[in-house]
Amino acid sequence: MSEPLRLGIAGLGTVGTGLLKIVQTHPDLLAARAGRPLAISAVSARSRGKNRGVDLSDYDWEDDPVALARRDDVDVFLELMGGENGPAKAAVEAALASGKHVVTANKAMLAIHGQAMAEAAEAAGVALRFEAAVAGGIPCVKALAEGLAGNRITRVMGVMNGTCNYILTRMAKAHLTYNEVFEEAHALGYLEADPTLDVGGIDAGHKLALLASIAFGTRVAFDAVQLEGIDRVSIADIEQARDMGYRIKLLGVAQMTGRGLEQRMQPCLVPAKSPLGQLDNAMNMIVLEGDAVGQIVLRGAGAGEGPTASAVIADVMDIARGAVLPTFGQPASTLAAAPPACSAAPAPYYLRLMLQDKPGALAKIATALGDAGVSINRMRQYGHDDIAAPVLIVTHTTSPDALAHALAGIEATGTLVDPPVALRIEEV
Ligand code: HSE
Repeated sequence: MSEPLRLGIAGLGTVGTGLLKIVQTHPDLLAARAGRPLAISAVSARSRGKNRGVDLSDYDWEDDPVALARRDDVDVFLELMGGENGPAKAAVEAALASGKHVVTANKAMLAIHGQAMAEAAEAAGVALRFEAAVAGGIPCVKALAEGLAGNRITRVMGVMNGTCNYILTRMAKAHLTYNEVFEEAHALGYLEADPTLDVGGIDAGHKLALLASIAFGTRVAFDAVQLEGIDRVSIADIEQARDMGYRIKLLGVAQMTGRGLEQRMQPCLVPAKSPLGQLDNAMNMIVLEGDAVGQIVLRGAGAGEGPTASAVIADVMDIARGAVLPTFGQPASTLAAAPPACSAAPAPYYLRLMLQDKPGALAKIATALGDAGVSINRMRQYGHDDIAAPVLIVTHTTSPDALAHALAGIEATGTLVDPPVALRIEEV
């Protein structure tokens, strides 16, 4: 058997610990599949004394991840610390400059610095891999870059943040408000240290930007992702959308249109009976569409020790087998700077309007929609008190511009008690 592949692991939190457990539990299986053993040379973390439930006694300890990244006895540097800048970025740059392969789970860092890092890796002739950065245990990077390499990708979609999916599912099932479930999720430790990364859609937006780069051969463009979080999703919308046959999901969609690259991460309605509509709790789902393959759906755990470590070790195994694949599916220098789409593709929309209960109010709404060229597909009015009549409208497919025009017209009628709610219905 060949020489061992020597690993240096920076970060011994959930992912790093999970990785150690896999390497320690399955040495023979990994060696047989890779054709060579995996050996851990050294590790690094913030606290040396912490009990992590794994034996570290066989490995050298480095306080400084940059020093770890430069060690002569490290072939692959595993960056499992996280953080967009700081030690993670410094250590990855040091590893690449020292000619080491890099495997990372760090979506925030790659969403911002991915292009420069991929160029650095290619200049050094080493691999920079990130399967664990997108949807945890779901091998969607590999599926897109390798399994679907012969397809023109038409759309990438998915639920990419388990915490948001948990919150939306729990609101629906327990009839709880967003704030009540947010507090619950916080107490359970589901939220990132900065919760806006989760509920603001930022974490999921990072993941979408990485997948879009591979799918469309474009430079990662996180700043062009249209981002909207879940904090304004109401229990009323969840329940009324359900009555109309939909579920509300924080959905990421990337597609190349005639108007440029469209990347959106926003609460959307999806059909309740679709795989996305049936995705409950903290699960993730990635939907990939290609001209030859059609649609494929991947479902699994997007976070957690085992699933994320499973993705990290898959990248390590590729490197052990000698594969040095381009980071984003093609050489970094050939990735295009795609213009961001100035507006999203047309879609049907769900509207919830709280109308004054007065004769003619509904007629004024219908006129405002008609004047903007927005056609009503379905409409429902619920039982109500004396003041406000809740009206739900599902439109036919309409452009976002026409919808915005219609909403301005609706507000100008003076018949609304509350601001209108408009959510996109994604055809899946
Ligand atoms: N906080 C993320 C989630 C996992 O809830 O899916 C890490 O990206």
